Amino acid sequence: MSAGFGKSFSGLQGIKSIEDFDLKDQKVFIRLDLNVPMKGEPGNLEITDDTRIRAAIPTLKYAMEKGAKLVLASHLGRPETPEDRPKYTLEPVAARLGELLGCEVILIEEPTSDAPKALLPVLKPKQILLLENVRFEKGETKNASELANVIASYTDIYINDAFGASHRAHSTIDALPRLIAKRGCGFLIKKEIENLGMLMDGPKKPFLTVMGGAKVSDKIKVIESMMEKIDTFLVGGAMAYTFLAAQGLGVGKSRVEKDKLSFARDLIKRIESRGKKILLPIDHIIADDFLAPTKIETVDTPSIPEDRLGLDIGPKTRELYRKEIERAKTVFWNGPMGVFERPEFAKGSFGIAEALATLAQNGGVSVVGGGDSAAAAEASGFADKMTHISTGGGASLEYLEGAKLPGLEALRIVRESVAPTF
Ligand code: 3PG
Repeated sequence: MSAGFGKSFSGLQGIKSIEDFDLKDQKVFIRLDLNVPMKGEPGNLEITDDTRIRAAIPTLKYAMEKGAKLVLASHLGRPETPEDRPKYTLEPVAARLGELLGCEVILIEEPTSDAPKALLPVLKPKQILLLENVRFEKGETKNASELANVIASYTDIYINDAFGASHRAHSTIDALPRLIAKRGCGFLIKKEIENLGMLMDGPKKPFLTVMGGAKVSDKIKVIESMMEKIDTFLVGGAMAYTFLAAQGLGVGKSRVEKDKLSFARDLIKRIESRGKKILLPIDHIIADDFLAPTKIETVDTPSIPEDRLGLDIGPKTRELYRKEIERAKTVFWNGPMGVFERPEFAKGSFGIAEALATLAQNGGVSVVGGGDSAAAAEASGFADKMTHISTGGGASLEYLEGAKLPGLEALRIVRESVAPTF
């Protein structure tokens, strides 16, 4: 019988760390999230942001120093057919990993072939194996036990350091660790859970959140679950237009989620009735068109003219939000304030990044919730000044929503329950 003690574990409870194992000469499988953005054509792909690769280095260096025989795995993108292989190969990632670690990274085309089993025992100190994109295997996204069994046959110790993919119940994240007694997490997962945990368990007050990005619907659960803890909500990005429209303001051609208008209206009421604050943009950067804007201007009102659409928060809103952030002790930022990929619409997001960096330098806590806001923080040049930038977009949000992440749950060592005495 393998039930637990009826206790529900959270955070890192019941999860071993890579430091708890003797790695010497052990075949150690490490699941990473090396799903990095690339540009260019197959055969000539170039990594445009290697943050996730660099974030994996501490765990890998540690394992190499301890004499582990390493086999790494990651997914890249969402390949669907065999024709997608050239576009989603991990070849550029293998090359970058090799540069950062100063070692030879051998890419294994077929993780289910005999190659890993044959190569692992004879690996030299500065050689590691990297399995080709695990999503090329049919069983990966189906959480298939067949794939997990094959990998388990050449694994002594399983380490998950793929925080960004830990919300996926996939074979190398969920089924595989359940087959291996010696399993635990790496340094990246530990850092992520400790920092996101600071937001959930007694954050220093005032606690402010900056919410942006395209959709209100992506944020509903996290807003609901953190509602009681947060003192101030700052809203930007396209989701702000839904909130403004919910208040009866004109938002022109801006993106609005019509089916979320009543949620937005209700949320504003609920926040204010608790004596908390929610701020919406008071001015905007607007344009006549999204794809090919010919006229970009600032509108000095919360409403937007009929023939225009909002693409960033305006200068007054930037200043207002900066001052609010200055007063806070803990800030969580999720979602950009505008289309920051274009310089004309980047000032809002970069202003938030700068304010968060200043807060962290003054002893406050600033956490960026992965995905687009992490990319905006990187592009702003302030990324290294934040308390923490999560490597997980969806994973960090789901964790803060209070969801159980399959990748963490599979690592917990559940003790046998004591048989009842009658
Ligand atoms: C991410 O980029 O958020 C993670 O790598 C997970 O990727 P997925 O959303 O394709 O599962």
